Amino acid sequence: MKMYEILSKRKLNHDITWLVIYAPMVARKAKPGQFIILLTDEYGERIPLTMAGHNSEEGTIDLIYATVGRTTMLMDQMGEGDTFFSIVGPLGKPTHMEGLKRVCVVGGGTGNALAYPIAAGMHNHGIQVDMISGFKNKDLVILEEEFTANTDRTFVVTDDGSYKEKAFTTDKLKSLLAEGNEYDEIIAVGPPIMMKLICQIAQEAGIPCVASLTAYMIDGTGMCGGCRASIGGEDKFVCVDGPEFDGTLVDWDELIQRNSYYREQEAHDREHVCRLTGGVRYYD
Ligand SMILES: Cc1cc2nc3c(=O)[nH]c(=O)nc-3n(C[C@H](O)[C@H](O)[C@H](O)COP(=O)(O)OP(=O)(O)OC[C@H]3O[C@@H](n4cnc5c(N)ncnc54)[C@H](O)[C@@H]3O)c2cc1C
Ligand code: FES
Repeated sequence: MKMYEILSKRKLNHDITWLVIYAPMVARKAKPGQFIILLTDEYGERIPLTMAGHNSEEGTIDLIYATVGRTTMLMDQMGEGDTFFSIVGPLGKPTHMEGLKRVCVVGGGTGNALAYPIAAGMHNHGIQVDMISGFKNKDLVILEEEFTANTDRTFVVTDDGSYKEKAFTTDKLKSLLAEGNEYDEIIAVGPPIMMKLICQIAQEAGIPCVASLTAYMIDGTGMCGGCRASIGGEDKFVCVDGPEFDGTLVDWDELIQRNSYYREQEAHDREHVCRLTGGVRYYD
């Protein structure tokens, strides 16, 4: 096996892909909630992805990524046997689990890929986990089997009711709380606006709420300042101080604004890759 070789590649839906990669030094130290930064090739951009799982004996890590732009489009063109130029990690603090007996994890859309290792990791740690897994519609549903096998209860909800229960994740959380379910912590992973609302509901119910933040990252080691977020009025770096923070302390409006800084440039880059994709294969 070659270092950073793709050992398996599987599509979960049109836009989401699961990779198993040979990265023994990362796998040896990985913990749930941590992430890596990868480079597809030496001229590529560094992008952070959460480890969806790892196997320290086999030296593998799992990544689940959504195809959203330049680098992830390039990753779509890689196949089993191809190798990444570099993978750095594990980065970030692992998910906090001590003292927790029962939690509710709420995943929204692609955020479910990031929520999976958190929910499964907590469940494997002996914590009782209710999982709310929300999607816009049936075609976007991912990881239902995996969540069901690795949590105590999984509730799949869709915005339009095209699969399972018709509800937003926020509605489902409210209804679980109204039924009398008690949690030591609620963990929100998804679009910032969803996390903001989930944290508000948790706060009103007097339950601590943790949000897993995604911010622009370059080095992932606290040096560049790219991932700065305002937490309780203090500047924190998502890469080294997070990615999980007390959701009631996050300045959500600032985070949402910072996450849209490069939208124009990203749209341009995406178009550039699209024009190249007609049959070109970069990694043979
Ligand atoms: C800690 C962390 C963990 C993540 N885990 C996952 C995961 O498990 N699965 C997944 O699908 N996505 C994950 N993401 C988001 C992922 O990093 C972006 O989807 C990816 O960088 C997109 O790159 P692109 O070139 O394909 O798209 P681009 O067109 O360049 O960007 C699309 C969007 O991705 C985000 N993004 C782009 N570059 C970066 C960067 N360097 N750092 C952070 N965000 C960026 C921005 O929101 C941007 O608007 C994570 C992000 C962070 C910060
Ligand atoms: S990515 Fe550079 S400080 Fe966090």
